[in-house]
Amino acid sequence: MTGPYPRRLHGRVVVVTGAARGQGAAEVEALTREGARVIATDVKPEGDCRRLDVTSDAEWAELAAELRESYGHVHGLVNNAGITWRARLGEVDPEDFARVHAVNVTGALLGIQHLAPLMPSGSSIVNVGSPAALTGHYPVAYTASKWALRGLTKTAATELGPRGIRVNIIHPGFIETEMTTSAPPAFREATVRETPLGRTAGVEEVAPVVVFLLSGDASFVTGAEIPVDGGLTAHGGTKSISDTLRTQAP
Ligand code: NAI
Repeated sequence: MTGPYPRRLHGRVVVVTGAARGQGAAEVEALTREGARVIATDVKPEGDCRRLDVTSDAEWAELAAELRESYGHVHGLVNNAGITWRARLGEVDPEDFARVHAVNVTGALLGIQHLAPLMPSGSSIVNVGSPAALTGHYPVAYTASKWALRGLTKTAATELGPRGIRVNIIHPGFIETEMTTSAPPAFREATVRETPLGRTAGVEEVAPVVVFLLSGDASFVTGAEIPVDGGLTAHGGTKSISDTLRTQAP
């Protein structure tokens, strides 16, 4: 134990996917600081990451067998791995549509199927959604996959609740990672314009919410959705109206 407070995840075994960089790497750091024994995984492993392609049923089975052998149980899973594809409705290729779905949705499904059997009561699963999961965001493959992930979250919360396993989803807004570096600058500018807090965020502003959901502090929170988006999805598209009228007399 360090500091005046007990570490909230002391001794908890937690798997994080897509953990080689970006939000996943920050989550590993934050969870480790809270005392968790974190298994960081990625399709392109770096450093202490273990290889796991979330779309591979065989690789999930291998990981589950290893965890059963080494720990006997798993208390947490963060389905963070995700890819985007910015083709619009008229141009998207069905193969790309399926590829995005395979990582963003089937990957999370496989993780839950393989690790939930190892989870005792009090365990927690966090899926990483997006504002795209709540809106008609233009990259249609990504948007459809994140809506599906929301559905998976709700079903899993219903199905696993009786076993004392909680399942929630967070919706990070514009977070500075390699995923957003690859977007055109106009995307950042337009998103900031629609964000009441008027800025993007760093990965360190998302990880604490994941820690909270994995911890006993969230013991009665399941099936919930937490936007971590500076207010982007709170106004339902009305921010530009509010901004336009702010300077005018009521
Ligand atoms: P990132 O692109 O920096 O990191 C994603 C990680 O996932 C990479 O390390 C990549 O190797 C890994 N990955 C990709 N395919 C994989 C697979 N098949 N199996 C295992 N790992 C795989 O992106 P970032 O921003 O850290 O994204 C994390 C999550 O947050 C994703 O689910 C993303 O959709 C979501 N998100 C990101 C936002 C942002 O603004 N950066 C906004 C909303 C959601």
